[in-house]
Amino acid sequence: MGFTAVYDNVVLIGFMGSGKTSVGKTLARQLFKEFADVDTIIEAEQNASVSEIFKTKGEAHFRALEQKCINELTQKKGQIIATGGGLPIYSAIADKSLIVHIDADFDVIMGRISDKERSKRPLLQDEERARTLFDERLDTYKELAVFRADANQSVSTFIHFIRDFILDQRVL
Ligand code: S3P
Repeated sequence: MGFTAVYDNVVLIGFMGSGKTSVGKTLARQLFKEFADVDTIIEAEQNASVSEIFKTKGEAHFRALEQKCINELTQKKGQIIATGGGLPIYSAIADKSLIVHIDADFDVIMGRISDKERSKRPLLQDEERARTLFDERLDTYKELAVFRADANQSVSTFIHFIRDFILDQRVL
């Protein structure tokens, strides 16, 4: 009998604004799993927005909070976890995570993100720097993921591909 991996959690990775949070919420509802969003948890614990944390404590501090948060979350099982775009770049993600890359092109992301959503992301303020960051990070996202979802269309058009893939896996 062959070895079948058993995953504890599904972890969504991908660039800022690619749709991880909305994909995660929908998947969790459809698959009867719990949803967890790393940025939202950090903001609640720190009682401050991501922008405020970057401004007052610096990016390195935020990265440490992300590592702590994903470590704590992955102690539990059966969740769909949405991460911030930098989390897989700076933090290790527990081995038994089914990592899914929500993959949208940079221009698609910039074309559909609202001004309000953009203003919440300190690393998306300077478009050229954000484009460089995107190019630098893409290979890491691809290497870590076991499944890539083409997120250049609306969530409703691609979510069933992810859902079917997850249903074929053994996720606790
Ligand atoms: C970041 C992505 C953000 C947030 C922070 C830093 C990044 O999350 O964690 O602004 O480095 O890519 P989203 O990917 O949800 O925008």
